[in-house]
Amino acid sequence: MPIGPLMIEHRLIERIVPVLKEELRRINETNEVNPVLIEIAVDFFRTYADRTHHGKEEDILFRELKKKQLASEHQKIMDELIEEHVYARRVVGNLLMSKDLYMQGNTNALKVVVDRLNDLIKLYPAHIEKEDKRFFIPVMDYFSKQEQDDMLQESWEFDRKMIHEKYENIVETLEGAG
Ligand SMILES: [Fe+2]
Ligand SMILES: [Fe+2]
Repeated sequence: MPIGPLMIEHRLIERIVPVLKEELRRINETNEVNPVLIEIAVDFFRTYADRTHHGKEEDILFRELKKKQLASEHQKIMDELIEEHVYARRVVGNLLMSKDLYMQGNTNALKVVVDRLNDLIKLYPAHIEKEDKRFFIPVMDYFSKQEQDDMLQESWEFDRKMIHEKYENIVETLEGAG
């Protein structure tokens, strides 16, 4: 089923949450942000959680669901999930921006970094639970076995492109910086 890889990806996304909690604990103790950890976490959220994972949800599963006559309950959850993806992108962008301001010596930005980490800690477990427990399994009933197989196949293709896209972006960034 096409939701298999998505649920496996949830298990990795969940594991970033205790890491962020530990960083919050450390910030609280030292009053300092670890900029490298924030940058790595932002890259994880952007490349893995958003581009690779939300990408497959929106560009494959939700795209196919939009062709179906959905029960209002499923339509409502899908709208919420899409909104939460938008919100997650905004929070991650704001986390990176406030980390940069903090590094430039803006001490007020420390509180914004803390707030954005708290936003992500709150959002992801709830978002994942909504998908795992209330959405993915029931919506599989809208699809035939063949449609499910086609989506799974498309998911592998989607993933296969990701590593190339990621490093093309890195080279382009480096070219721009040179
Ligand atoms: Fe999602
Ligand atoms: Fe998800």
